Amino acid sequence: MSLIEQARAIYQEIEAMPVGNKEQLEQFRIRFIGRKGAVEALFEGLKDVAKDDRRAVGQELNTLKNFAHDRFVVFQGQLESADGGVAAPVDLTLPVFPHQLGSIHPLTLARAKIIEIFERMGFSVADGPEIESDWYNFTALNFPENHPAREMQDTFFVEKHPEDGTQDMLLRTHTSNVQIRLMQQQKPPFRAIMPGRVYRNEAISARAHCFFHQVEGLYVDKNVSFKDLKDTLYHFSKEMFSQDVKIRLRPSFFPFTEPSAEIDIWLGTDTEETYRLSKGTGWVEIAGSGMVDPNVLANCGIDPEEYTGFAFGMGVERIAQLRYGVRDLRLYSENDVRFLRQFEGI
Ligand code: PHE
Repeated sequence: MSLIEQARAIYQEIEAMPVGNKEQLEQFRIRFIGRKGAVEALFEGLKDVAKDDRRAVGQELNTLKNFAHDRFVVFQGQLESADGGVAAPVDLTLPVFPHQLGSIHPLTLARAKIIEIFERMGFSVADGPEIESDWYNFTALNFPENHPAREMQDTFFVEKHPEDGTQDMLLRTHTSNVQIRLMQQQKPPFRAIMPGRVYRNEAISARAHCFFHQVEGLYVDKNVSFKDLKDTLYHFSKEMFSQDVKIRLRPSFFPFTEPSAEIDIWLGTDTEETYRLSKGTGWVEIAGSGMVDPNVLANCGIDPEEYTGFAFGMGVERIAQLRYGVRDLRLYSENDVRFLRQFEGI
């Protein structure tokens, strides 16, 4: 009998073989599927087939092997489902399981909201490098040579300058570097915000992290006044928190702005949460701000006699914390789904 004839005989045998219980299924497996079964035995004969026919015969044998295998799977499924098992035959016409969507990260939500509010006020979004030179991060922003922020304890330095060996490249400590790049590259007026990640040499705790996110803003034009700064940030606070929000401007100092003010919003002290967040004062800081120092404008080739501007910077983690009641900064970067799932559908 040729191999093809033998294969046909096995087809008939497979079709005739009753499989109604586990023993019969096992016999089926041994006879047709197993390595010592009838189908595998036929493959042994392939080497004796004339070379020219070998390919075609081989294909026939493979078809037989697949046939036996498919039938085995169907019998197996039938027996298991009769058993109450899970492997019922698959119904390919059923709809697929709905795909589980993740949720948007709270920092992404807060950042998107901040951007949306400022875009409606006519601000555009600018971007810049996270690894920055000392000049863009400090010098151009009027930080004196010996300012404490330039110490290793506060800033991550990346590499030594190739020529003079000074430590020149660093992880930016704020997104103000983008303000400088923008002022160098374009002519005023500017109205832009700079969202991005920033780094400081801090021990990680519930209240501090070595990286976090900021959105800084810059508005430079003729006759920009402190009142514009105040109105802009008041409008922002109303849109972000609530229309009856109360804000206050507290005098402060930054090397790159003069005068400078910190913006606080009123939370009150009536709950444990607001008492804790405001350290018992009722107020919490949401941003630093001020009028751009004339030296900074001059460093970027802008005439401080002709132009004035304001700048501000806020922490996205803090804004998200106030909006969503996040207690511990570390939660933002731990990727714990029990935390992240709470933002589904927001
Ligand atoms: N760059 C400041 C910081 O990181 C924030 C700030 C920006 C303050 C612009 C004033 C003006 O703390």
